[in-house]
Amino acid sequence: MFACITGVGSYLPGQPVSNYSLIRRGIDTTDEWIVSRTGIKSRHLAEIGCTSSDLALEASHRALLSAGIHSGELDLIILATSTPDFIFPSTACLLQAKLGNHGAMAFDVQAVCSGFVYALSIAEKFIRSGSHKKVLVVGAEVFSRTLDWEDRATCVLFGDGAGAVVLEASENPGIIATASHADGSYHKILSAPGNVSNGKIIGDPFLRMDGPAVFKFAVNALADVAIECLEMAGLSSIDVDWLIPHQANTRIIESTAKKLGLPMENVIVTVDRHGNTSSASIPLALDVAVRDGRIQRGQKVMFVGVGGGFTWGAVLLEF
Ligand code: ACO
Repeated sequence: MFACITGVGSYLPGQPVSNYSLIRRGIDTTDEWIVSRTGIKSRHLAEIGCTSSDLALEASHRALLSAGIHSGELDLIILATSTPDFIFPSTACLLQAKLGNHGAMAFDVQAVCSGFVYALSIAEKFIRSGSHKKVLVVGAEVFSRTLDWEDRATCVLFGDGAGAVVLEASENPGIIATASHADGSYHKILSAPGNVSNGKIIGDPFLRMDGPAVFKFAVNALADVAIECLEMAGLSSIDVDWLIPHQANTRIIESTAKKLGLPMENVIVTVDRHGNTSSASIPLALDVAVRDGRIQRGQKVMFVGVGGGFTWGAVLLEF
Protein backbone atom coordinates (compact mmCIF):
# COMPACT_ATOMS: atom_id res chain seq x y z
CA MET A 1 0.00 0.00 0.00
CA PHE A 2 1.35 3.40 -1.02
CA ALA A 3 0.36 6.95 -0.07
CA CYS A 4 -0.16 8.96 -3.27
CA ILE A 5 -0.61 12.69 -3.71
CA THR A 6 -3.90 12.97 -5.60
CA GLY A 7 -4.50 16.70 -5.21
CA VAL A 8 -2.46 19.87 -4.69
CA GLY A 9 -3.50 23.42 -3.83
CA SER A 10 -2.09 26.61 -2.38
CA TYR A 11 -3.06 30.12 -1.38
CA LEU A 12 -1.18 33.40 -0.96
CA PRO A 13 -2.91 36.35 0.72
CA GLY A 14 -3.22 39.73 -1.00
CA GLN A 15 -0.80 41.30 -3.44
CA PRO A 16 3.00 40.76 -3.51
CA VAL A 17 4.88 43.10 -1.16
CA SER A 18 8.19 44.01 -2.82
CA ASN A 19 11.45 44.84 -1.08
CA TYR A 20 10.91 48.45 -2.24
CA SER A 21 7.53 48.40 -0.52
CA LEU A 22 9.19 47.35 2.77
CA ILE A 23 11.65 50.25 2.38
CA ARG A 24 8.71 52.63 1.82
CA ARG A 25 7.18 51.22 5.06
CA GLY A 26 10.32 52.35 6.90
CA ILE A 27 12.55 49.23 7.03
CA ASP A 28 16.22 50.30 6.93
CA THR A 29 17.36 48.03 4.09
CA THR A 30 17.99 47.89 0.35
CA ASP A 31 16.69 45.68 -2.44
CA GLU A 32 20.32 44.89 -3.30
CA TRP A 33 21.07 43.61 0.26
CA ILE A 34 17.99 41.40 0.42
CA VAL A 35 18.34 39.97 -3.10
CA SER A 36 22.10 39.33 -2.86
CA ARG A 37 21.85 37.65 0.60
CA THR A 38 18.58 35.74 0.13
CA GLY A 39 17.20 35.94 -3.44
CA ILE A 40 13.91 37.34 -2.06
CA LYS A 41 12.26 40.04 -4.19
CA SER A 42 8.75 39.98 -2.76
CA ARG A 43 6.49 38.12 -0.33
CA HIS A 44 2.79 38.09 0.62
CA LEU A 45 1.65 39.41 3.99
CA ALA A 46 -1.75 38.57 5.46
CA GLU A 47 -4.04 41.36 6.67
CA ILE A 48 -4.43 41.67 10.44
CA GLY A 49 -7.18 39.28 11.50
CA CYS A 50 -6.37 36.72 8.79
CA THR A 51 -5.19 33.50 10.45
CA SER A 52 -3.37 30.32 9.48
CA SER A 53 -6.69 28.43 9.34
CA ASP A 54 -8.08 31.05 6.92
CA LEU A 55 -5.12 30.52 4.56
CA ALA A 56 -5.28 26.75 5.09
CA LEU A 57 -8.97 26.71 4.14
CA GLU A 58 -8.34 28.31 0.74
CA ALA A 59 -5.39 26.00 -0.02
CA SER A 60 -7.40 22.96 1.14
CA HIS A 61 -10.40 23.80 -1.06
CA ARG A 62 -8.04 23.92 -4.06
CA ALA A 63 -6.32 20.63 -3.13
CA LEU A 64 -9.68 18.87 -2.61
CA LEU A 65 -10.93 20.19 -5.95
CA SER A 66 -7.76 18.96 -7.66
CA ALA A 67 -8.17 15.52 -6.04
CA GLY A 68 -11.86 15.43 -6.96
CA ILE A 69 -12.99 14.56 -3.43
CA HIS A 70 -15.28 16.20 -0.88
CA SER A 71 -14.06 17.31 2.56
CA GLY A 72 -16.51 14.87 4.15
CA GLU A 73 -14.51 11.96 2.68
CA LEU A 74 -11.34 12.87 4.64
CA ASP A 75 -10.53 10.58 7.56
CA LEU A 76 -7.41 12.46 8.75
CA ILE A 77 -6.33 16.13 8.71
CA ILE A 78 -2.75 17.01 9.64
CA LEU A 79 -1.83 20.67 9.68
CA ALA A 80 1.76 21.86 10.06
CA THR A 81 2.09 25.32 11.57
CA SER A 82 4.18 27.29 14.02
CA THR A 83 1.72 30.18 13.89
CA PRO A 84 -1.48 28.53 15.17
CA ASP A 85 -4.70 30.53 15.47
CA PHE A 86 -4.94 29.74 19.20
CA ILE A 87 -3.03 27.93 21.94
CA PHE A 88 -5.91 25.45 21.59
CA PRO A 89 -7.89 23.99 19.92
CA SER A 90 -5.49 22.97 17.19
CA THR A 91 -5.55 24.84 13.89
CA ALA A 92 -6.28 21.46 12.25
CA CYS A 93 -9.56 21.27 14.22
CA LEU A 94 -10.43 24.86 13.30
CA LEU A 95 -9.74 24.03 9.64
CA GLN A 96 -11.86 20.89 9.97
CA ALA A 97 -14.80 22.96 11.21
CA LYS A 98 -14.39 25.47 8.36
CA LEU A 99 -14.26 22.58 5.85
CA GLY A 100 -17.44 21.06 7.32
CA ASN A 101 -15.81 17.71 8.04
CA HIS A 102 -17.12 15.89 11.11
CA GLY A 103 -15.28 12.99 12.69
CA ALA A 104 -11.90 12.80 10.95
CA MET A 105 -8.88 12.65 13.25
CA ALA A 106 -7.26 16.11 13.20
CA PHE A 107 -4.09 17.45 14.77
CA ASP A 108 -1.27 19.98 14.34
CA VAL A 109 2.42 19.28 13.79
CA GLN A 110 4.86 21.87 15.13
CA ALA A 111 8.23 21.45 13.43
CA VAL A 112 8.65 25.00 12.03
CA CYS A 113 10.05 24.95 8.47
CA SER A 114 10.24 21.11 8.44
CA GLY A 115 6.56 20.95 9.41
CA PHE A 116 5.26 19.89 6.00
CA VAL A 117 7.77 17.04 5.51
CA TYR A 118 7.12 15.90 9.09
CA ALA A 119 3.32 15.99 8.49
CA LEU A 120 3.62 14.15 5.18
CA SER A 121 5.83 11.48 6.77
CA ILE A 122 3.29 10.98 9.57
CA ALA A 123 0.38 10.84 7.10
CA GLU A 124 2.22 8.25 5.01
CA LYS A 125 2.58 6.01 8.05
CA PHE A 126 -1.14 6.25 8.86
CA ILE A 127 -1.98 5.26 5.27
CA ARG A 128 0.59 2.49 5.08
CA SER A 129 -0.78 0.98 8.33
CA GLY A 130 -4.19 0.70 6.67
CA SER A 131 -5.94 2.73 9.39
CA HIS A 132 -6.66 5.81 7.21
CA LYS A 133 -7.31 6.25 3.49
CA LYS A 134 -7.86 9.91 2.59
CA VAL A 135 -5.66 12.45 4.33
CA LEU A 136 -5.39 16.21 4.01
CA VAL A 137 -1.87 17.47 4.77
CA VAL A 138 -1.49 21.24 5.06
CA GLY A 139 1.31 23.71 5.77
CA ALA A 140 -0.10 27.10 6.77
CA GLU A 141 1.64 30.08 8.32
CA VAL A 142 1.24 33.75 9.16
CA PHE A 143 4.90 34.21 10.06
CA SER A 144 4.49 37.99 9.70
CA ARG A 145 2.79 37.86 13.14
CA THR A 146 6.05 36.69 14.75
CA LEU A 147 8.30 39.33 13.18
CA ASP A 148 9.97 42.22 14.97
CA TRP A 149 9.70 44.90 12.28
CA GLU A 150 12.53 46.77 14.04
CA ASP A 151 14.88 43.81 13.33
CA ARG A 152 15.88 44.22 9.69
CA ALA A 153 17.96 41.02 9.73
CA THR A 154 14.81 38.89 10.11
CA CYS A 155 11.72 40.88 9.07
CA VAL A 156 12.70 40.95 5.38
CA LEU A 157 12.99 37.16 5.14
CA PHE A 158 9.49 35.82 5.76
CA GLY A 159 6.06 35.71 4.13
CA ASP A 160 2.60 34.27 4.73
CA GLY A 161 0.78 31.52 2.82
CA ALA A 162 -0.53 27.98 2.77
CA GLY A 163 -0.17 24.84 0.69
CA ALA A 164 -2.08 21.57 0.89
CA VAL A 165 -2.05 18.08 -0.58
CA VAL A 166 -4.56 15.24 -0.52
CA LEU A 167 -2.87 11.92 0.15
CA GLU A 168 -4.76 8.72 -0.70
CA ALA A 169 -4.12 5.01 -0.26
CA SER A 170 -3.16 3.42 -3.57
CA GLU A 171 -1.67 0.28 -5.06
CA ASN A 172 0.48 2.48 -7.33
CA PRO A 173 3.74 4.03 -6.15
CA GLY A 174 3.50 7.27 -4.23
CA ILE A 175 5.75 8.08 -1.26
CA ILE A 176 8.80 5.83 -1.54
CA ALA A 177 10.92 6.86 1.46
CA THR A 178 10.96 9.35 4.32
CA ALA A 179 13.62 10.45 6.80
CA SER A 180 13.10 12.85 9.71
CA HIS A 181 15.32 14.11 12.51
CA ALA A 182 15.56 16.69 15.28
CA ASP A 183 18.23 18.00 17.61
CA GLY A 184 16.81 20.25 20.30
CA SER A 185 20.24 21.32 21.49
CA TYR A 186 20.17 23.84 18.61
CA HIS A 187 16.92 25.49 19.80
CA LYS A 188 18.55 28.83 20.58
CA ILE A 189 19.77 29.65 17.04
CA LEU A 190 16.21 30.07 15.76
CA SER A 191 13.25 30.57 18.07
CA ALA A 192 10.27 32.67 19.09
CA PRO A 193 10.87 32.16 22.81
CA GLY A 194 7.67 33.64 24.24
CA ASN A 195 4.38 32.39 25.63
CA VAL A 196 1.20 33.57 27.32
CA SER A 197 0.78 32.94 31.02
CA ASN A 198 -1.76 34.40 33.45
CA GLY A 199 -2.91 36.77 30.72
CA LYS A 200 0.56 38.20 30.08
CA ILE A 201 3.24 37.61 27.43
CA ILE A 202 6.14 35.78 29.05
CA GLY A 203 9.56 35.97 27.37
CA ASP A 204 10.13 37.35 23.88
CA PRO A 205 7.20 37.07 21.46
CA PHE A 206 9.30 37.76 18.36
CA LEU A 207 11.29 35.46 16.09
CA ARG A 208 15.02 35.62 16.89
CA MET A 209 17.73 34.09 14.73
CA ASP A 210 21.47 33.69 14.54
CA GLY A 211 21.54 33.94 10.72
CA PRO A 212 25.06 32.61 10.01
CA ALA A 213 24.58 29.66 12.42
CA VAL A 214 21.25 28.78 10.80
CA PHE A 215 22.81 29.01 7.36
CA LYS A 216 25.63 26.64 8.28
CA PHE A 217 23.29 24.12 9.91
CA ALA A 218 20.75 24.22 7.05
CA VAL A 219 23.12 23.52 4.16
CA ASN A 220 24.57 20.42 5.82
CA ALA A 221 21.27 19.05 7.16
CA LEU A 222 19.38 19.40 3.87
CA ALA A 223 21.98 17.58 1.76
CA ASP A 224 22.60 14.87 4.38
CA VAL A 225 18.92 13.99 4.87
CA ALA A 226 18.27 14.02 1.11
CA ILE A 227 21.08 11.49 0.61
CA GLU A 228 19.82 9.37 3.54
CA CYS A 229 16.31 9.28 2.04
CA LEU A 230 17.65 8.38 -1.44
CA GLU A 231 19.78 5.59 0.02
CA MET A 232 16.74 4.16 1.82
CA ALA A 233 15.07 3.86 -1.59
CA GLY A 234 18.21 2.44 -3.24
CA LEU A 235 18.38 5.52 -5.47
CA SER A 236 20.79 8.40 -6.05
CA SER A 237 20.33 12.06 -6.93
CA ILE A 238 20.46 11.37 -10.68
CA ASP A 239 17.13 9.54 -10.26
CA VAL A 240 15.45 12.71 -8.94
CA ASP A 241 13.46 14.66 -11.53
CA TRP A 242 12.63 17.54 -9.18
CA LEU A 243 14.03 18.73 -5.87
CA ILE A 244 11.73 20.95 -3.82
CA PRO A 245 13.75 22.27 -0.89
CA HIS A 246 12.36 24.44 1.88
CA GLN A 247 12.35 27.94 0.45
CA ALA A 248 14.39 30.01 2.92
CA ASN A 249 17.17 31.43 0.83
CA THR A 250 18.52 30.90 -2.72
CA ARG A 251 22.09 30.52 -1.44
CA ILE A 252 21.02 27.64 0.84
CA ILE A 253 19.06 26.07 -2.04
CA GLU A 254 21.95 26.39 -4.51
CA SER A 255 24.44 25.01 -2.03
CA THR A 256 22.15 22.00 -1.31
CA ALA A 257 21.70 21.30 -5.04
CA LYS A 258 25.46 21.50 -5.54
CA LYS A 259 26.15 19.07 -2.69
CA LEU A 260 23.64 16.65 -4.25
CA GLY A 261 25.13 17.11 -7.74
CA LEU A 262 21.76 18.32 -9.07
CA PRO A 263 21.62 21.11 -11.67
CA MET A 264 19.44 24.10 -10.69
CA GLU A 265 17.21 23.27 -13.71
CA ASN A 266 15.89 20.38 -11.60
CA VAL A 267 15.20 22.51 -8.52
CA ILE A 268 11.93 24.37 -7.90
CA VAL A 269 12.57 27.87 -6.54
CA THR A 270 9.81 30.19 -5.35
CA VAL A 271 11.57 31.99 -2.50
CA ASP A 272 12.10 34.99 -4.80
CA ARG A 273 8.29 35.53 -4.95
CA HIS A 274 7.08 33.98 -1.67
CA GLY A 275 9.87 34.70 0.84
CA ASN A 276 10.23 32.09 3.57
CA THR A 277 6.74 30.81 4.41
CA SER A 278 8.06 28.14 6.81
CA SER A 279 5.91 24.97 6.73
CA ALA A 280 3.94 26.31 3.74
CA SER A 281 6.96 26.79 1.49
CA ILE A 282 7.25 23.25 0.05
CA PRO A 283 3.56 22.69 -0.80
CA LEU A 284 3.38 26.24 -2.20
CA ALA A 285 6.36 25.49 -4.48
CA LEU A 286 4.88 22.09 -5.41
CA ASP A 287 1.61 23.70 -6.45
CA VAL A 288 3.39 26.30 -8.60
CA ALA A 289 5.40 23.62 -10.43
CA VAL A 290 2.42 21.28 -10.89
CA ARG A 291 0.25 24.05 -12.26
CA ASP A 292 2.92 25.39 -14.66
CA GLY A 293 3.41 21.85 -15.99
CA ARG A 294 7.00 21.23 -14.88
CA ILE A 295 6.10 18.41 -12.46
CA GLN A 296 4.35 15.58 -14.29
CA ARG A 297 2.75 12.34 -13.09
CA GLY A 298 5.26 9.49 -12.76
CA GLN A 299 8.24 11.75 -12.03
CA LYS A 300 10.37 11.38 -8.92
CA VAL A 301 10.14 14.37 -6.61
CA MET A 302 12.07 14.98 -3.42
CA PHE A 303 10.97 17.37 -0.67
CA VAL A 304 13.61 18.40 1.83
CA GLY A 305 13.11 20.72 4.78
CA VAL A 306 14.95 22.19 7.74
CA GLY A 307 13.73 24.48 10.49
CA GLY A 308 13.77 25.62 14.08
CA GLY A 309 14.12 23.02 16.76
CA PHE A 310 16.29 22.16 14.94
CA THR A 311 14.27 19.77 12.80
CA TRP A 312 14.99 18.39 9.35
CA GLY A 313 13.59 15.77 7.01
CA ALA A 314 13.03 14.51 3.48
CA VAL A 315 10.28 12.79 1.54
CA LEU A 316 10.94 10.99 -1.76
CA LEU A 317 7.95 10.15 -3.91
CA GLU A 318 6.75 9.22 -7.35
CA PHE A 319 4.24 11.93 -8.20
N1 ACO B 1 19.36 45.19 5.10
C1 ACO B 1 20.59 45.74 5.12
N2 ACO B 1 21.57 45.34 5.96
C2 ACO B 1 21.28 44.35 6.81
C3 ACO B 1 20.01 43.74 6.84
C4 ACO B 1 19.04 44.21 5.95
N3 ACO B 1 17.79 43.68 5.88
N4 ACO B 1 20.02 42.79 7.80
C5 ACO B 1 21.26 42.77 8.35
N5 ACO B 1 22.01 43.72 7.76
C6 ACO B 1 23.39 44.05 8.01
C7 ACO B 1 23.81 43.72 9.43
O1 ACO B 1 23.46 44.78 10.30
C8 ACO B 1 25.31 43.58 9.28
O2 ACO B 1 25.87 44.88 9.24
P1 ACO B 1 27.27 45.17 9.97
O3 ACO B 1 28.25 44.25 9.29
O4 ACO B 1 27.49 46.63 9.70
O5 ACO B 1 27.05 44.82 11.41
C9 ACO B 1 25.48 43.01 7.88
O6 ACO B 1 24.22 43.23 7.20
C10 ACO B 1 25.83 41.54 7.84
O7 ACO B 1 24.99 40.85 8.66
P2 ACO B 1 25.08 39.30 8.70
O8 ACO B 1 24.02 38.77 9.62
O9 ACO B 1 26.51 38.89 8.92
O10 ACO B 1 24.71 38.94 7.19
P3 ACO B 1 24.84 37.58 6.45
O11 ACO B 1 25.67 37.76 5.27
O12 ACO B 1 25.09 36.43 7.36
O13 ACO B 1 23.34 37.39 5.94
C11 ACO B 1 21.33 36.24 6.44
C12 ACO B 1 22.27 37.35 6.83
C13 ACO B 1 20.71 36.56 5.11
C14 ACO B 1 20.22 36.16 7.49
C15 ACO B 1 22.14 34.92 6.36
O14 ACO B 1 22.84 34.70 7.55
C16 ACO B 1 21.27 33.77 6.08
O15 ACO B 1 20.78 33.62 4.98
N6 ACO B 1 21.06 32.90 7.08
C17 ACO B 1 20.13 31.82 6.94
C18 ACO B 1 18.97 32.24 7.68
C19 ACO B 1 17.68 31.83 7.08
O16 ACO B 1 17.51 31.59 5.91
N7 ACO B 1 16.74 31.78 7.96
C20 ACO B 1 15.43 31.47 7.57
C21 ACO B 1 14.78 30.84 8.68
S1 ACO B 1 15.51 29.33 9.04
C22 ACO B 1 14.97 28.29 7.98
O17 ACO B 1 14.03 28.52 7.30
C23 ACO B 1 15.72 27.08 7.91
